[in-house]
Amino acid sequence: MPRSTAPFTGGRIRAAVVGAGAIGRGSHLPALARLAAEGETEVVAAVDIDATAVEAMCAEAGVPHAYTDLDRMLAEQRPDLVTVCTPPTLHRDQTVTALRAGAWVWCEKPPVPSLADFDAVEAAEGTDGGPYASIVFQHRFGSAATHVRRLLAEGALGRPLVAHCQTTWYRDTAYYAVPWRGRWATEGGGPAMGHGIHQMDLLLDLLGPWSEVRAMAGRLVHDVETEDVSTALVRFANGALATVVNSVLSPDEVSRIRIDCERATVELTHLYGHGNENWRITPAPGVPADEAAAWRDFGPDVPSSHLAQLRELVAAMRAGERPRGSGADGRTSLELITALYKAAFTDTTVRAGGIGPGDPYYTALHGGAPGWAPVEHEEVSA
Ligand SMILES: NC(=O)c1ccc[n+]([C@@H]2O[C@H](COP(=O)([O-])OP(=O)(O)OC[C@H]3O[C@@H](n4cnc5c(N)ncnc54)[C@H](O)[C@@H]3O)[C@@H](O)[C@H]2O)c1
Repeated sequence: MPRSTAPFTGGRIRAAVVGAGAIGRGSHLPALARLAAEGETEVVAAVDIDATAVEAMCAEAGVPHAYTDLDRMLAEQRPDLVTVCTPPTLHRDQTVTALRAGAWVWCEKPPVPSLADFDAVEAAEGTDGGPYASIVFQHRFGSAATHVRRLLAEGALGRPLVAHCQTTWYRDTAYYAVPWRGRWATEGGGPAMGHGIHQMDLLLDLLGPWSEVRAMAGRLVHDVETEDVSTALVRFANGALATVVNSVLSPDEVSRIRIDCERATVELTHLYGHGNENWRITPAPGVPADEAAAWRDFGPDVPSSHLAQLRELVAAMRAGERPRGSGADGRTSLELITALYKAAFTDTTVRAGGIGPGDPYYTALHGGAPGWAPVEHEEVSA
């Protein structure tokens, strides 16, 4: 099937949603509907192996075609954009299938279970103008994140020095009683992968590339294969040092990023999404009041959201440009998480770029580590 190489210069972008569950129904369809109202998109089809669920979603949202088979939908509808809203273990195959059919892809986090899977997706992308596969990292988007990223990139706040990145959430025993949760094969990882990825991704988006990580992981409360808490120390290429905590054991839940720079401290405090009011910039002594006031002007409030990211993705499609959250930019948080697990399970320092083909952590986040990997995957040590 031919790839779409020409930019989408005119007409609506024809989208299809794969997965009629919570995030497909609750976030992807509303974002696509909003852009449809602006003349940008139209949802031509939806797919789910659960026929009742997909038919109900299509009826509710006025989507003309419901399918239970992805290949058939791609062949019959030839969508320009496929949004993947299924469980993580399906992301690789469904993304590659859609790319090969010529569609751009917007795939839910966590991207795929391993760096090997991510590289397989990247290899299926087009080389010149698309199609590309972008990951849903909606916390990077919105007015405040855009404003702070610019201040940091322009050096207005001085050198970033120390950072904290916290995803300290609470999940009870009933949450982990669902059989697919807490297992490497079905959930992909513990809170470092499934819960903390958004904050870590945002930290990387703000601070740039990381260079090395040391870490610890624990299984303190839940009867799970994966960890239920991890802590990490991360050094960034720009010299900044960060602590990263990912937990599902924390009764007082918060998602938090704090970056101390030479001229100001930037703080984001929220839970599942943020607007301008969730950010605080505290100037260092001696910073002129009018300059600090300008830093605190985030502009009209655009909260982080699927819609905010989708707007940029559609613009990238029209320009024939690689969208944010794809390629190296989409891989960076998965690489940090992989390195975090390797550092924790092997008690070593792991450097950026150091996990490639041949490394057991390249193909599985548990890396075959005794005591962590499912028994059949444990590396036999002499
Ligand atoms: N970006 C965010 O903030 C955010 C929030 C919640 C969930 N998510 C992610 O979204 C994804 C889906 O999560 P959810 O909460 O919507 O799950 P869900 O279980 O509510 O929905 C998943 C849907 O996929 C369908 N499905 C399963 N196998 C399929 C197949 N082979 N083909 C087509 N459909 C299939 C299921 O029938 C179900 O309807 C996960 O990766 C999750 O981590 C992201």
